[in-house]
Amino acid sequence: MNLVVVSNRITRGNANEPITGGLAAALLPIVEKSGAIWVGSSGRVRDGVQKEPFAEVEALGNGALAMLDLPAAHYGGYYEGFANSALWPALHSRADLIRVSQGDYLSYREVNAFMARALLRFRKADTAFWIQDYHFLALGAELRDLGVTQPIGFFLHTPWPARDVIEGVPHHRDLVEAMLAYDLIGFQTEDDCENFAGYLSATLGLAVADGIVMSQQHGPTRLAVFPIGIDVDKFARQAAKAVSHPDVSRLRRSLNGEKLAIGVDRLDYSKGLVNRINAFDRMWTMHPSLARTVSLLQIATPSRSAIEAYGNLQSELAKLVSDVNGRHGEVDWTPIRYLNKGFSQTVLAGLYRTAQVGVVTPLHDGMNLVAKEYVAAQNPDDPGVLVLSKFAGAANELDTALLVNPHDIDGMARTIAVALSMPFPERRMRWEAMMAKLRRGSIQHWFTSFVEALETARAERVPAPEPIEIIPALWPLRSVNA
Ligand code: F6P
Repeated sequence: MNLVVVSNRITRGNANEPITGGLAAALLPIVEKSGAIWVGSSGRVRDGVQKEPFAEVEALGNGALAMLDLPAAHYGGYYEGFANSALWPALHSRADLIRVSQGDYLSYREVNAFMARALLRFRKADTAFWIQDYHFLALGAELRDLGVTQPIGFFLHTPWPARDVIEGVPHHRDLVEAMLAYDLIGFQTEDDCENFAGYLSATLGLAVADGIVMSQQHGPTRLAVFPIGIDVDKFARQAAKAVSHPDVSRLRRSLNGEKLAIGVDRLDYSKGLVNRINAFDRMWTMHPSLARTVSLLQIATPSRSAIEAYGNLQSELAKLVSDVNGRHGEVDWTPIRYLNKGFSQTVLAGLYRTAQVGVVTPLHDGMNLVAKEYVAAQNPDDPGVLVLSKFAGAANELDTALLVNPHDIDGMARTIAVALSMPFPERRMRWEAMMAKLRRGSIQHWFTSFVEALETARAERVPAPEPIEIIPALWPLRSVNA
Protein backbone atom coordinates (compact mmCIF):
# COMPACT_ATOMS: atom_id res chain seq x y z
CA MET A 1 0.00 0.00 0.00
CA ASN A 2 1.14 3.48 -0.86
CA LEU A 3 0.24 5.68 2.11
CA VAL A 4 -0.37 9.43 1.92
CA VAL A 5 -0.57 11.08 5.36
CA VAL A 6 -2.03 14.58 5.58
CA SER A 7 -1.81 17.09 8.43
CA ASN A 8 -1.76 20.85 8.69
CA ARG A 9 1.51 20.96 10.61
CA ILE A 10 4.50 18.97 9.43
CA THR A 11 8.11 18.85 10.54
CA ARG A 12 11.30 18.34 8.60
CA GLY A 13 12.77 16.23 11.38
CA ASN A 14 15.86 18.25 12.15
CA ALA A 15 16.91 16.85 15.57
CA ASN A 16 18.13 20.26 16.70
CA GLU A 17 14.94 22.14 15.90
CA PRO A 18 11.87 22.37 18.16
CA ILE A 19 8.74 20.52 17.02
CA THR A 20 5.44 22.22 17.77
CA GLY A 21 2.76 19.92 19.13
CA GLY A 22 2.43 16.20 19.64
CA LEU A 23 1.03 15.39 16.22
CA ALA A 24 4.11 16.35 14.23
CA ALA A 25 6.46 14.65 16.71
CA ALA A 26 4.40 11.45 16.53
CA LEU A 27 4.10 11.33 12.75
CA LEU A 28 7.77 11.98 12.04
CA PRO A 29 9.13 8.49 12.90
CA ILE A 30 6.13 6.87 11.20
CA VAL A 31 6.82 8.60 7.91
CA GLU A 32 10.57 8.06 8.16
CA LYS A 33 10.15 4.30 8.67
CA SER A 34 7.06 3.44 6.63
CA GLY A 35 8.00 5.32 3.48
CA ALA A 36 4.72 7.27 3.48
CA ILE A 37 4.31 10.63 1.77
CA TRP A 38 3.46 13.31 4.33
CA VAL A 39 1.58 16.29 2.93
CA GLY A 40 0.97 19.46 4.95
CA SER A 41 1.25 23.21 5.10
CA SER A 42 4.62 24.78 4.29
CA GLY A 43 3.72 27.63 6.67
CA ARG A 44 3.84 29.95 3.65
CA VAL A 45 0.92 31.29 1.68
CA ARG A 46 0.66 32.11 -1.99
CA ASP A 47 -1.33 34.89 -3.63
CA GLY A 48 -3.68 34.71 -6.54
CA VAL A 49 -5.44 31.80 -8.15
CA GLN A 50 -3.12 28.84 -8.20
CA LYS A 51 -3.57 26.77 -11.30
CA GLU A 52 -1.57 23.97 -9.74
CA PRO A 53 -1.05 23.86 -5.96
CA PHE A 54 2.64 24.50 -5.31
CA ALA A 55 4.47 21.98 -3.16
CA GLU A 56 8.09 21.55 -2.28
CA VAL A 57 8.88 17.85 -1.94
CA GLU A 58 11.88 16.42 -0.14
CA ALA A 59 12.94 13.05 1.20
CA LEU A 60 12.24 12.20 4.84
CA GLY A 61 13.87 8.91 5.86
CA ASN A 62 12.26 6.24 3.68
CA GLY A 63 9.36 8.57 2.98
CA ALA A 64 8.83 12.05 1.60
CA LEU A 65 7.56 15.37 2.81
CA ALA A 66 5.41 17.59 0.57
CA MET A 67 5.05 21.12 1.86
CA LEU A 68 2.19 23.00 0.32
CA ASP A 69 1.74 26.78 0.09
CA LEU A 70 -1.86 27.41 1.13
CA PRO A 71 -4.02 30.09 -0.52
CA ALA A 72 -3.30 33.51 0.99
CA ALA A 73 -6.88 34.71 0.75
CA HIS A 74 -8.18 31.84 2.89
CA TYR A 75 -5.35 30.96 5.24
CA GLY A 76 -6.33 33.30 8.10
CA GLY A 77 -10.02 32.34 7.97
CA TYR A 78 -9.03 28.67 7.89
CA TYR A 79 -6.26 28.47 10.51
CA GLU A 80 -6.80 31.29 12.98
CA GLY A 81 -10.49 31.46 12.12
CA PHE A 82 -12.53 28.31 11.82
CA ALA A 83 -9.94 25.70 12.85
CA ASN A 84 -8.61 27.46 15.93
CA SER A 85 -11.38 29.88 16.93
CA ALA A 86 -14.36 27.57 16.42
CA LEU A 87 -13.29 23.93 16.28
CA TRP A 88 -10.39 23.98 18.74
CA PRO A 89 -12.31 25.72 21.56
CA ALA A 90 -15.36 23.51 21.03
CA LEU A 91 -13.33 20.29 20.86
CA HIS A 92 -11.77 21.29 24.18
CA SER A 93 -15.17 22.07 25.69
CA ARG A 94 -14.69 25.86 25.60
CA ALA A 95 -17.65 26.83 23.44
CA ASP A 96 -17.58 30.20 25.26
CA LEU A 97 -14.39 31.04 23.32
CA ILE A 98 -15.89 30.46 19.86
CA ARG A 99 -15.38 33.60 17.72
CA VAL A 100 -16.07 32.89 14.09
CA SER A 101 -17.62 34.33 10.95
CA GLN A 102 -19.33 32.86 7.92
CA GLY A 103 -16.26 33.91 5.92
CA ASP A 104 -14.06 31.79 8.21
CA TYR A 105 -16.18 28.73 7.51
CA LEU A 106 -16.02 29.34 3.75
CA SER A 107 -12.23 29.69 3.98
CA TYR A 108 -12.02 26.46 5.96
CA ARG A 109 -13.99 24.63 3.28
CA GLU A 110 -11.89 26.30 0.53
CA VAL A 111 -8.64 25.11 2.11
CA ASN A 112 -10.05 21.59 2.52
CA ALA A 113 -11.04 21.61 -1.15
CA PHE A 114 -7.64 23.03 -2.14
CA MET A 115 -5.86 20.28 -0.21
CA ALA A 116 -8.03 17.64 -1.90
CA ARG A 117 -7.01 18.92 -5.34
CA ALA A 118 -3.37 18.94 -4.31
CA LEU A 119 -3.59 15.35 -3.07
CA LEU A 120 -4.64 14.03 -6.48
CA ARG A 121 -1.00 14.42 -7.50
CA PHE A 122 0.00 11.76 -5.02
CA ARG A 123 -2.70 9.25 -5.86
CA LYS A 124 -1.82 5.86 -7.24
CA ALA A 125 -4.04 2.82 -7.72
CA ASP A 126 -2.97 1.37 -4.37
CA THR A 127 -2.92 4.64 -2.40
CA ALA A 128 -4.63 5.00 0.95
CA PHE A 129 -5.12 8.48 2.42
CA TRP A 130 -4.81 9.07 6.14
CA ILE A 131 -6.05 12.51 7.16
CA GLN A 132 -5.08 13.93 10.54
CA ASP A 133 -6.99 16.19 12.87
CA TYR A 134 -9.60 18.90 13.05
CA HIS A 135 -8.10 21.10 10.35
CA PHE A 136 -9.38 18.70 7.71
CA LEU A 137 -12.74 17.37 8.85
CA ALA A 138 -14.21 17.82 5.35
CA LEU A 139 -11.21 16.66 3.32
CA GLY A 140 -12.51 13.11 2.83
CA ALA A 141 -15.77 14.41 1.37
CA GLU A 142 -13.82 16.74 -0.96
CA LEU A 143 -11.71 13.81 -2.15
CA ARG A 144 -14.82 11.71 -2.80
CA ASP A 145 -16.30 14.62 -4.80
CA LEU A 146 -13.18 14.51 -6.95
CA GLY A 147 -13.82 10.84 -7.66
CA VAL A 148 -11.33 9.30 -5.24
CA THR A 149 -12.39 5.72 -4.48
CA GLN A 150 -9.35 4.64 -2.50
CA PRO A 151 -9.44 4.09 1.28
CA ILE A 152 -9.57 7.33 3.28
CA GLY A 153 -9.11 7.28 7.04
CA PHE A 154 -9.25 10.09 9.57
CA PHE A 155 -7.73 10.37 13.03
CA LEU A 156 -8.76 13.03 15.54
CA HIS A 157 -5.90 14.05 17.87
CA THR A 158 -8.11 16.20 20.09
CA PRO A 159 -11.01 15.16 22.29
CA TRP A 160 -14.53 14.99 20.84
CA PRO A 161 -16.79 16.74 23.36
CA ALA A 162 -20.39 16.25 24.48
CA ARG A 163 -23.11 16.86 21.90
CA ASP A 164 -24.32 20.24 23.19
CA VAL A 165 -20.76 21.61 23.00
CA ILE A 166 -20.14 20.59 19.39
CA GLU A 167 -23.54 21.97 18.49
CA GLY A 168 -22.09 25.37 19.40
CA VAL A 169 -19.95 25.20 16.23
CA PRO A 170 -21.65 26.86 13.28
CA HIS A 171 -22.25 24.33 10.47
CA HIS A 172 -21.59 21.39 12.80
CA ARG A 173 -24.13 19.27 10.96
CA ASP A 174 -22.52 19.84 7.51
CA LEU A 175 -19.12 19.03 8.92
CA VAL A 176 -20.07 15.81 10.65
CA GLU A 177 -22.03 14.67 7.61
CA ALA A 178 -18.90 15.36 5.53
CA MET A 179 -16.85 13.27 7.98
CA LEU A 180 -18.96 10.25 7.08
CA ALA A 181 -17.11 10.13 3.73
CA TYR A 182 -14.23 8.56 5.68
CA ASP A 183 -14.03 4.78 5.74
CA LEU A 184 -12.60 4.87 9.24
CA ILE A 185 -12.65 7.56 11.95
CA GLY A 186 -10.19 7.04 14.79
CA PHE A 187 -10.34 8.61 18.26
CA GLN A 188 -7.91 8.81 21.15
CA THR A 189 -10.27 7.46 23.82
CA GLU A 190 -13.51 5.52 24.29
CA ASP A 191 -15.13 8.68 25.70
CA ASP A 192 -14.39 10.62 22.50
CA CYS A 193 -15.75 7.81 20.35
CA GLU A 194 -18.90 7.54 22.48
CA ASN A 195 -19.46 11.30 22.34
CA PHE A 196 -19.20 11.19 18.54
CA ALA A 197 -21.60 8.25 18.34
CA GLY A 198 -23.93 10.15 20.71
CA TYR A 199 -23.93 13.13 18.32
CA LEU A 200 -24.64 10.89 15.34
CA SER A 201 -27.64 9.32 16.95
CA ALA A 202 -29.10 12.34 18.77
CA THR A 203 -28.39 15.08 16.21
CA LEU A 204 -28.27 13.25 12.89
CA GLY A 205 -30.58 10.39 13.78
CA LEU A 206 -27.99 7.79 12.68
CA ALA A 207 -27.52 4.65 14.73
CA VAL A 208 -24.08 3.17 15.40
CA ALA A 209 -24.11 -0.64 15.50
CA ASP A 210 -20.97 -2.72 16.15
CA GLY A 211 -18.84 0.39 15.66
CA ILE A 212 -20.30 1.15 12.21
CA VAL A 213 -22.52 4.04 11.19
CA MET A 214 -24.37 3.92 7.90
CA SER A 215 -25.08 7.13 6.00
CA GLN A 216 -27.21 7.46 2.91
CA GLN A 217 -24.63 9.44 0.97
CA HIS A 218 -21.47 7.56 1.83
CA GLY A 219 -22.42 4.11 3.14
CA PRO A 220 -20.66 2.58 6.15
CA THR A 221 -18.06 4.36 8.29
CA ARG A 222 -16.27 2.50 11.05
CA LEU A 223 -15.57 4.27 14.36
CA ALA A 224 -12.76 2.99 16.57
CA VAL A 225 -10.26 3.96 19.26
CA PHE A 226 -6.49 4.11 18.64
CA PRO A 227 -4.62 5.79 21.52
CA ILE A 228 -1.51 7.42 20.07
CA GLY A 229 1.84 6.43 21.57
CA ILE A 230 5.55 7.20 21.33
CA ASP A 231 8.68 5.28 20.42
CA VAL A 232 9.42 4.52 24.08
CA ASP A 233 12.81 2.88 23.83
CA LYS A 234 14.15 5.40 21.34
CA PHE A 235 13.05 8.27 23.58
CA ALA A 236 14.59 6.57 26.64
CA ARG A 237 17.93 6.19 24.82
CA GLN A 238 17.75 9.81 23.66
CA ALA A 239 17.13 10.96 27.26
CA ALA A 240 20.01 8.94 28.69
CA LYS A 241 22.36 10.51 26.12
CA ALA A 242 20.92 13.99 26.46
CA VAL A 243 21.89 14.45 30.11
CA SER A 244 25.32 15.50 28.88
CA HIS A 245 23.90 18.06 26.42
CA PRO A 246 25.26 21.52 27.38
CA ASP A 247 21.76 22.98 28.03
CA VAL A 248 20.87 20.08 30.32
CA SER A 249 24.21 20.17 32.19
CA ARG A 250 23.79 23.92 32.74
CA LEU A 251 20.32 23.38 34.17
CA ARG A 252 21.60 20.66 36.53
CA ARG A 253 24.46 22.83 37.78
CA SER A 254 22.10 25.75 38.37
CA LEU A 255 19.89 23.66 40.64
CA ASN A 256 22.52 23.27 43.40
CA GLY A 257 20.92 20.04 44.63
CA GLU A 258 17.42 21.56 44.61
CA LYS A 259 14.59 19.38 43.17
CA LEU A 260 12.95 20.26 39.89
CA ALA A 261 9.38 19.97 38.59
CA ILE A 262 8.89 20.42 34.86
CA GLY A 263 5.97 21.44 32.65
CA VAL A 264 6.21 21.62 28.85
CA ASP A 265 3.22 22.89 26.89
CA ARG A 266 2.10 24.98 23.99
CA LEU A 267 0.80 28.21 25.45
CA ASP A 268 -2.86 27.22 25.15
CA TYR A 269 -5.88 27.68 27.43
CA SER A 270 -6.61 23.94 27.25
CA LYS A 271 -3.33 23.18 29.04
CA GLY A 272 -4.42 24.44 32.47
CA LEU A 273 -1.33 26.60 32.95
CA VAL A 274 -2.96 29.23 35.17
CA ASN A 275 -4.27 26.59 37.56
CA ARG A 276 -0.88 24.87 37.56
CA ILE A 277 0.98 28.04 38.54
CA ASN A 278 -1.66 28.71 41.21
CA ALA A 279 -1.14 25.17 42.54
CA PHE A 280 2.61 25.77 42.95
CA ASP A 281 1.87 29.11 44.62
CA ARG A 282 -0.49 27.28 47.02
CA MET A 283 2.07 24.54 47.66
CA TRP A 284 4.79 26.99 48.67
CA THR A 285 2.27 28.80 50.88
CA MET A 286 1.01 25.60 52.53
CA HIS A 287 4.51 24.09 52.89
CA PRO A 288 6.99 26.94 53.43
CA SER A 289 9.69 24.30 54.01
CA LEU A 290 9.50 23.51 50.28
CA ALA A 291 10.74 26.98 49.37
CA ARG A 292 14.32 26.73 48.05
CA THR A 293 14.06 22.92 47.91
CA VAL A 294 12.03 22.72 44.68
CA SER A 295 11.46 24.98 41.70
CA LEU A 296 9.30 24.70 38.61
CA LEU A 297 10.69 24.89 35.09
CA GLN A 298 7.71 25.82 32.93
CA ILE A 299 8.31 25.88 29.19
CA ALA A 300 5.30 27.51 27.49
CA THR A 301 5.86 27.78 23.75
CA PRO A 302 3.87 30.65 22.22
CA SER A 303 1.19 29.43 19.86
CA ARG A 304 -1.50 31.01 17.65
CA SER A 305 -0.61 34.40 19.12
CA ALA A 306 -2.74 36.29 16.58
CA ILE A 307 -5.87 34.92 18.27
CA GLU A 308 -7.17 37.14 21.08
CA ALA A 309 -7.71 34.32 23.61
CA TYR A 310 -4.05 33.27 23.21
CA GLY A 311 -2.72 36.83 23.50
CA ASN A 312 -4.79 37.32 26.68
CA LEU A 313 -3.50 34.08 28.16
CA GLN A 314 0.10 35.03 27.39
CA SER A 315 -0.30 38.32 29.30
CA GLU A 316 -2.17 36.69 32.18
CA LEU A 317 0.50 34.02 32.65
CA ALA A 318 3.41 36.45 32.47
CA LYS A 319 1.77 38.55 35.19
CA LEU A 320 0.91 35.54 37.35
CA VAL A 321 4.41 34.05 37.19
CA SER A 322 5.97 37.39 38.04
CA ASP A 323 3.57 37.79 40.98
CA VAL A 324 4.35 34.30 42.36
CA ASN A 325 8.10 34.80 41.91
CA GLY A 326 7.84 38.22 43.54
CA ARG A 327 6.11 36.83 46.63
CA HIS A 328 8.02 33.56 47.14
CA GLY A 329 11.40 34.34 45.57
CA GLU A 330 14.66 35.15 47.37
CA VAL A 331 17.75 37.04 46.18
CA ASP A 332 19.31 33.72 45.23
CA TRP A 333 16.20 31.64 44.44
CA THR A 334 13.62 31.92 41.63
CA PRO A 335 10.66 29.62 42.27
CA ILE A 336 9.42 29.48 38.65
CA ARG A 337 11.70 29.54 35.63
CA TYR A 338 9.31 30.53 32.89
CA LEU A 339 10.45 30.21 29.27
CA ASN A 340 8.47 31.21 26.18
CA LYS A 341 10.40 29.27 23.58
CA GLY A 342 10.60 25.81 22.09
CA PHE A 343 13.35 23.21 22.60
CA SER A 344 14.47 20.31 20.42
CA GLN A 345 13.26 16.82 21.29
CA THR A 346 16.83 15.96 22.31
CA VAL A 347 17.08 18.75 24.87
CA LEU A 348 13.55 18.11 26.13
CA ALA A 349 14.40 14.45 26.72
CA GLY A 350 17.34 15.51 28.91
CA LEU A 351 15.26 18.11 30.78
CA TYR A 352 12.56 15.53 31.53
CA ARG A 353 15.16 13.14 32.92
CA THR A 354 16.57 15.86 35.16
CA ALA A 355 13.19 16.66 36.76
CA GLN A 356 11.95 14.69 39.78
CA VAL A 357 8.34 15.58 38.97
CA GLY A 358 6.58 16.00 35.60
CA VAL A 359 3.43 18.14 35.78
CA VAL A 360 0.96 17.59 32.95
CA THR A 361 -2.33 19.12 34.04
CA PRO A 362 -4.47 20.08 31.03
CA LEU A 363 -8.15 20.92 31.51
CA HIS A 364 -8.82 18.78 28.44
CA ASP A 365 -6.40 17.02 26.13
CA GLY A 366 -6.79 14.45 23.38
CA MET A 367 -3.80 12.39 24.59
CA ASN A 368 -0.80 14.52 25.67
CA LEU A 369 2.45 12.98 24.53
CA VAL A 370 4.52 15.10 26.94
CA ALA A 371 3.17 12.83 29.70
CA LYS A 372 4.37 9.74 27.83
CA GLU A 373 7.73 11.29 26.97
CA TYR A 374 8.32 12.31 30.59
CA VAL A 375 7.82 8.70 31.72
CA ALA A 376 9.99 7.26 28.94
CA ALA A 377 12.82 9.69 29.75
CA GLN A 378 13.22 8.63 33.39
CA ASN A 379 16.30 6.98 34.83
CA PRO A 380 15.20 3.45 35.87
CA ASP A 381 17.46 3.69 38.96
CA ASP A 382 15.85 6.93 40.15
CA PRO A 383 12.59 7.56 38.28
CA GLY A 384 10.63 10.76 38.70
CA VAL A 385 6.90 11.00 39.41
CA LEU A 386 4.26 12.04 36.89
CA VAL A 387 1.43 14.28 38.12
CA LEU A 388 -1.22 13.92 35.45
CA SER A 389 -4.64 15.45 34.82
CA LYS A 390 -7.42 12.91 34.79
CA PHE A 391 -8.80 14.84 31.79
CA ALA A 392 -5.84 14.04 29.52
CA GLY A 393 -6.38 11.04 27.23
CA ALA A 394 -3.04 9.69 28.52
CA ALA A 395 -4.63 9.11 31.96
CA ASN A 396 -6.40 6.02 30.59
CA GLU A 397 -3.09 4.23 30.14
CA LEU A 398 -0.92 6.07 32.68
CA ASP A 399 -3.21 5.25 35.58
CA THR A 400 -0.33 4.71 38.00
CA ALA A 401 0.67 8.36 37.66
CA LEU A 402 -0.64 10.62 40.43
CA LEU A 403 -3.92 11.62 38.83
CA VAL A 404 -5.30 15.06 39.67
CA ASN A 405 -8.32 17.21 38.99
CA PRO A 406 -6.81 20.28 37.24
CA HIS A 407 -9.61 22.50 38.59
CA ASP A 408 -8.76 21.64 42.20
CA ILE A 409 -5.85 23.94 43.08
CA ASP A 410 -5.49 22.68 46.69
CA GLY A 411 -5.64 19.06 45.56
CA MET A 412 -2.92 19.65 42.95
CA ALA A 413 -0.76 21.47 45.51
CA ARG A 414 -1.03 18.53 47.91
CA THR A 415 -0.33 15.98 45.17
CA ILE A 416 2.78 17.77 43.92
CA ALA A 417 4.10 17.80 47.50
CA VAL A 418 3.39 14.05 47.75
CA ALA A 419 5.21 13.45 44.46
CA LEU A 420 8.27 15.33 45.73
CA SER A 421 8.61 13.10 48.78
CA MET A 422 7.62 9.75 47.28
CA PRO A 423 9.98 6.96 48.36
CA PHE A 424 12.01 5.10 45.72
CA PRO A 425 10.15 1.73 45.83
CA GLU A 426 6.80 3.41 45.10
CA ARG A 427 8.26 5.63 42.37
CA ARG A 428 9.84 2.62 40.73
CA MET A 429 6.69 0.50 40.94
CA ARG A 430 4.51 3.22 39.41
CA TRP A 431 7.06 3.95 36.70
CA GLU A 432 7.49 0.30 35.71
CA ALA A 433 3.73 -0.14 35.35
CA MET A 434 3.58 2.93 33.09
CA MET A 435 6.54 1.81 30.98
CA ALA A 436 4.90 -1.57 30.40
CA LYS A 437 1.75 0.16 29.12
CA LEU A 438 3.75 2.56 26.93
CA ARG A 439 5.60 -0.35 25.34
CA ARG A 440 2.33 -2.12 24.55
CA GLY A 441 0.80 1.04 23.03
CA SER A 442 3.79 2.31 21.05
CA ILE A 443 3.59 4.65 18.07
CA GLN A 444 4.36 1.70 15.79
CA HIS A 445 1.37 -0.14 17.23
CA TRP A 446 -0.84 2.93 16.70
CA PHE A 447 0.25 3.18 13.07
CA THR A 448 -0.11 -0.51 12.20
CA SER A 449 -3.43 -0.96 13.90
CA PHE A 450 -4.94 2.12 12.20
CA VAL A 451 -3.67 1.20 8.75
CA GLU A 452 -4.87 -2.41 9.09
CA ALA A 453 -8.28 -1.24 10.30
CA LEU A 454 -8.47 1.17 7.37
CA GLU A 455 -7.82 -1.61 4.87
CA THR A 456 -10.48 -3.75 6.51
CA ALA A 457 -12.98 -0.90 6.68
CA ARG A 458 -12.53 -0.10 3.00
CA ALA A 459 -12.82 -3.75 2.02
CA GLU A 460 -16.15 -3.85 3.89
CA ARG A 461 -17.29 -0.79 1.98
CA VAL A 462 -16.13 -1.39 -1.59
CA PRO A 463 -15.53 -5.04 -2.56
CA ALA A 464 -13.20 -4.29 -5.51
CA PRO A 465 -11.25 -1.12 -6.33
CA GLU A 466 -12.40 0.78 -9.40
CA PRO A 467 -9.84 1.67 -12.09
CA ILE A 468 -8.64 5.27 -11.86
CA GLU A 469 -6.71 7.65 -14.04
CA ILE A 470 -3.31 8.44 -12.57
CA ILE A 471 -2.07 12.02 -12.88
CA PRO A 472 1.72 12.23 -12.71
CA ALA A 473 3.38 14.50 -10.17
CA LEU A 474 4.16 17.90 -11.66
CA TRP A 475 6.85 19.11 -9.30
CA PRO A 476 10.39 17.81 -8.95
CA LEU A 477 11.47 15.70 -6.00
CA ARG A 478 14.24 17.58 -4.24
CA SER A 479 16.07 15.24 -1.95
CA VAL A 480 17.66 16.78 1.14
CA ASN A 481 18.65 13.82 3.26
CA ALA A 482 18.33 10.74 1.10
O1 F6P B 1 -4.60 17.95 18.10
C1 F6P B 1 -3.44 18.28 18.68
C2 F6P B 1 -2.56 19.05 17.76
O2 F6P B 1 -2.60 18.68 16.43
C3 F6P B 1 -1.15 18.97 18.29
O3 F6P B 1 -0.25 18.44 17.47
C4 F6P B 1 -0.80 20.38 18.52
O4 F6P B 1 -0.74 20.48 19.90
C5 F6P B 1 -1.94 21.19 17.97
O5 F6P B 1 -2.98 20.37 17.77
C6 F6P B 1 -1.62 21.91 16.70
O6 F6P B 1 -1.06 23.09 16.99
P1 F6P B 1 -0.63 24.15 15.90
O7 F6P B 1 -1.82 25.04 15.70
O8 F6P B 1 0.50 24.86 16.51
O9 F6P B 1 -0.26 23.39 14.68
